[in-house]
Amino acid sequence: MSEVTLDLRHEPRERAYAQLHAHIIAVLAGIDDDITAMATISALVHHAFGHLWTGFYRVVSPTLLRVGPYQGTLGCLEIAFGRGVCGTAAAERRVMVVPDVNRFPGHIACDDRARSEIVVPVFDRAGALIAVFDVDSARTGTFSQQDGEGLQKILRWFAGEGRQDPGG
Ligand code: SME
Repeated sequence: MSEVTLDLRHEPRERAYAQLHAHIIAVLAGIDDDITAMATISALVHHAFGHLWTGFYRVVSPTLLRVGPYQGTLGCLEIAFGRGVCGTAAAERRVMVVPDVNRFPGHIACDDRARSEIVVPVFDRAGALIAVFDVDSARTGTFSQQDGEGLQKILRWFAGEGRQDPGG
């Protein structure tokens, strides 16, 4: 039952995120591996909504992000804190909703079809920033605070929420 990829493009966003969250928790049951979770969450969020690029940039030093598991065309490999939408979200540890990337000074274009973007910080159990989750859309104005809230809830898996100990 859990081994399916949901298509939620025709669901209202709130219901879509509730379904997706429950699905992700079920798929990841018994898994205690951040990379596996990043790959799984990227695939399920990407295909649920038909996004252009969906994935993680991991914190590899106090001021550097490096690409992690993702779905989409080639992403840039490293982004310094403070650069682009991802680096800004990492430096400021906050959700960034960008309705039109052409109006965001310093936006890094990895795929020139990208029109709007959301980036959500990812924290571990101790509250440390471990990554940012970046989603790009080929349409302007795709994302709202509702997407921010839905994604934050999913990403709390990395802080231990809904995460079951292996064998538990
Ligand atoms: N657009 C992002 C860079 C990452 S790619 O879109 C995959 C940014 O400005 O941070």
